[in-house]
Amino acid sequence: MNILTIETTCDETAAAVVTDHLEVLATVVASQEKLHRRFGGVVPEVASRAHVERILPVVDETLRKAGVKLKDLDAVAVATTPGLAGSLLVGLVAAKALSLTLNIPLVAIDHLQAHIYACRMSADRAVFPCVGLVVSGGHTSLYECHAATDFDLLGSTIDDAAGEAFDKVASMLSLPYPGGPSIQKAAEGGDPEAYRLPRAFINDTDRLDFSFSGLKTAVRYQITGPGAADFRNIHLERQQISDLAASFQAAIVDCLVTKAVLAILQTGLETLCVGGGVAANASLRQQLTHAGEQHHFEVIIAPFELCTDNAVMGAIAVERLRRGQVETLDLDIQPGLIRKH
Ligand code: KG4
Ligand code: ZN
Repeated sequence: MNILTIETTCDETAAAVVTDHLEVLATVVASQEKLHRRFGGVVPEVASRAHVERILPVVDETLRKAGVKLKDLDAVAVATTPGLAGSLLVGLVAAKALSLTLNIPLVAIDHLQAHIYACRMSADRAVFPCVGLVVSGGHTSLYECHAATDFDLLGSTIDDAAGEAFDKVASMLSLPYPGGPSIQKAAEGGDPEAYRLPRAFINDTDRLDFSFSGLKTAVRYQITGPGAADFRNIHLERQQISDLAASFQAAIVDCLVTKAVLAILQTGLETLCVGGGVAANASLRQQLTHAGEQHHFEVIIAPFELCTDNAVMGAIAVERLRRGQVETLDLDIQPGLIRKH
């Protein structure tokens, strides 16, 4: 059985062909990084227009790489939640058109569940039940994952997502978008203890939430001094940028690792699965692995190419198809986060 999966939740136009045995026949990701770089972040209207231009070429290219014709497709799946409304719509309309014209089932994908499913794809064996940590540009959440499509939210950010904080702090430090890789690179030559930065809720052992907006403001005040409004004309020395990047990265990683460990201890689960763009961060990967060794739990982090948005993780559709969970053409997008799955 060949399933075409489509991903257009944010600024990557992606498609893949996977089989019901979770074999990946082809994957294509068209990134819009260059389009959004000059704005220092994703501009929703620019993103949806770019999806419109790219969706058909990306689907064509994926089928070509897979050696599969349209008539060989047995189902089409698309991420419908959460994400940018205009971006989600492009993927959904493409998937509906294929479902209707090819007369094949339409399957809905929850993008956050899919980020955790990336770990299932790379592990190539069962990973559920587990604690799931999704750290992306739009979300930072911990889940008790009973099964691939059955999650309970344990905690999440009350303000900025981790990736969003990386992107905004990078912009303050005049580092290019996307901020995560830029900060990681700048941090390599920096001292993570050069600046004392806040770690919200870190000692709050009942709480599995995150908050990064105070951290972001603290970095800003390190640049401008308290109260000063504009940081754009302030010149920072190279070492200062590296030290700030390293100190900021250490604070975020500290929060993520501490709460992930707490979630493992609270739930009694023995596996932690980590996905989302920020999971590509080398320091986070290292510290999570170390925490797993220390506290005796298994850590499965999505491989680099499956951390940022892609359609391979859309193979989660197989789980829904197996249960006959297919949609009608009334299927709609849900841009906002569904807190309880
Ligand atoms: O999962 P993703 O591709 O899109 C969303 O669903 O949001 O995540 C994108 C985010 C961006 O904020 C980017 O800065 C961050 O992932 N990111 C990183 C790294 N690579 C990407 N953050 C920290 N370190 C990295 N190496
Ligand atoms: Zn994502």
